[in-house]
Amino acid sequence: MRKPVIAGNWKMFKTVGDSVATAVALKPLVANANHCEIVITPVFTALKSVADRLEGSNIKVAAQNCAAEQREGAFTGEVAAFMIRDAGCSHVIVGHSERRQYYSDSDEVVSRKTHAGLAAGLTVIVCVGETLEQRDQGSAERVVREQLVWGLTGLTASDLDRIIVAYEPVWAIGTGRTATPEQAQEMHAFIRRVFAEGHSEAAANALRILYGGSVKPDNIAGLMRKADIDGALVGGASLNAESFAQIVNYK
Ligand code: PGA
Repeated sequence: MRKPVIAGNWKMFKTVGDSVATAVALKPLVANANHCEIVITPVFTALKSVADRLEGSNIKVAAQNCAAEQREGAFTGEVAAFMIRDAGCSHVIVGHSERRQYYSDSDEVVSRKTHAGLAAGLTVIVCVGETLEQRDQGSAERVVREQLVWGLTGLTASDLDRIIVAYEPVWAIGTGRTATPEQAQEMHAFIRRVFAEGHSEAAANALRILYGGSVKPDNIAGLMRKADIDGALVGGASLNAESFAQIVNYK
C-alpha cells in the first residue's frame, strides 16, 4: 500500500510571520489525518521558524529547491541540501517547472539536486511535466520520459524509498485548468512503467506519484480515486490553511 502524500507548495508567498501563522492554523485542522503524509513548503527564510513550530506534529516541512552542490562553498545565493535538513526539513522539491522555465534548471541540474537532497538525508520530490505545446504536438510522454530518466539517473535501489515523483503538466499550473483524472491517471501509469523499466517492478509499485496543477478542494477526491495517483502537489489552494486542510481531508 502506498501512503498518499499531500504537499503544499507555497512558492514565493508569505513572510516569516504569515508562514508561521498559516502553519499553526493548519495544525489542528489536519491533526487527525493519518491516511496521508502532509508536507508544506514555505520560502527559505521561514523554514526554520515553521519547522520549529511544527515539531512533533504530523506536518512535515520541505524546501522548494536546493543547491546542486553538496558541500558548502563559494556559491552566492545558494542553499545546500544539508542546510535545509539542518533547518528542520525532511523533504525538498526539485525540478519544479517554474525552476526549469525561469531559472534554467536543466535535466542535468535537476539530477544533481536530486542527488544532493538524497545525500543530505532528505526525501526528494522530483517534478516532471510537459508544456501545452508539447502536449499538442503529441510529445508529452517523450518529454516526461526524458525528464524522468535524467531526474532518476544513477539512483540506487536504497535511494528510491526517498523519491517521490510529482507529475505537473505545465498547462495546468496556476491556470485553473486541471488535467482530468483520466488524463492524469494515464500519465501516472506511464511514469510507473518508465520507472519499472529503469529500476524494478517492485520499486515502481512502491513509488508515490503526485499530481499537481490546479488541485482544489472540489477536484481532489476525483483525482485520488485513480489507481496511480498517490497524492497531490498543491500550489494556490495550499496558501490558505482551511482550503489546504480540506484537500488533506479529501476522504
Ligand atoms: P497550482 O500549482 O496548484 O497553483 O496550479 C501547483 C504547483 O505549481 O505545484
